[in-house]
Amino acid sequence: MPKIPDHVRGARFTGWGTALGHKVVTNDDLAKTMDTNDEWVRERTGIQRRHIGGSTSELSAISGAAAMKMAGVDPSSIDALILATTTPDRTVPGTSATVQNLLGLSCGAFDVNAACSGFVYALVNAHGLIAMGAERVLLIGTDTLARITDWTDRNTAVLFADGSGAAVLEATSGRGHLLGWDLDADGSAEEILYAEIGGNIQMEGKEVFRRAVRIMVDSAQKSMAHAGVTADDISVIVPHQANIRIISAACDRLGIPMSKAAVVLQETGNTSSASIPLALFADLGQTKPKQGDLVLLVGFGAGMTAASAILEWGAQ
Ligand code: COA
Repeated sequence: MPKIPDHVRGARFTGWGTALGHKVVTNDDLAKTMDTNDEWVRERTGIQRRHIGGSTSELSAISGAAAMKMAGVDPSSIDALILATTTPDRTVPGTSATVQNLLGLSCGAFDVNAACSGFVYALVNAHGLIAMGAERVLLIGTDTLARITDWTDRNTAVLFADGSGAAVLEATSGRGHLLGWDLDADGSAEEILYAEIGGNIQMEGKEVFRRAVRIMVDSAQKSMAHAGVTADDISVIVPHQANIRIISAACDRLGIPMSKAAVVLQETGNTSSASIPLALFADLGQTKPKQGDLVLLVGFGAGMTAASAILEWGAQ
């Protein structure tokens, strides 16, 4: 992926919001209906509970409204809505159109499906719109994976859940916060993680794990190289929240201590497109960036996709 050319109009986050499914499901709850147990799920994944419920448009409207409120912007001032989701309410239209109407926006709206890398894919696209003259983009990552999970399959049911995270991205007169980015995909790995239309998620867990660590590290290193920074410069890493052992292995290979990782999966499970914005914006006691920190966002998902970005937190 190319470096960001000089003199491109930059952007920064000015508001954000999150939403979780209303029903809390613990590992013990799952153990009542399938052959699993709390100890196994905590040890092998790091997940303690997850939130399920709500549709993709409902959760998106909650997080999107909160983001606009925090930014202090009127719905009429949003120039575009990008919704990252792999679980749209309907095949047609895009769920972004439903959310656009629910939020009272009067702008273009489109869905991005890059699975669990979706929020970072949408973030890079939103910067592209701002470089083309948009002033304000509402960016939402939402997934309702409970709808495409087989709740009798212990291989997948312990992992997936519902959630949403949103941010208002506004043009800035300065350089903006994005210093480097990378988007990747390898469609030859499609068969290890997929859901047919109308079907549930099918997964070869071990193979996904193995590839996930490799592609996260590869993407993060490309973004850092494009930004001209090293692992030592990173203050906070916000990884896709799939499995604590994947996060730990990726941090280890990148040379970034786990104490710098924003981790919320113990509370949220894997919420796909919502995972990175939840880890970045939700108030769940995780490591959070401070003014001036360099933040590495890095996701991976079905496809297999990978995406990363280096942000200078609070940059003008
Ligand atoms: N509860 C209890 N035992 C379970 C279990 C569960 N939910 N799932 C599997 N087991 C058992 C297995 O049957 C196996 O038993 P055995 O040793 O008697 O054969 C043992 O636990 C180990 O299973 P294994 O599949 O080797 O576990 P693992 O350490 O690879 O962990 C995953 C399984 C799915 C948690 C892990 O591979 C993973 O997280 N992969 C990535 C998945 C992912 O991130 N997907 C989304 C990508 S966006």
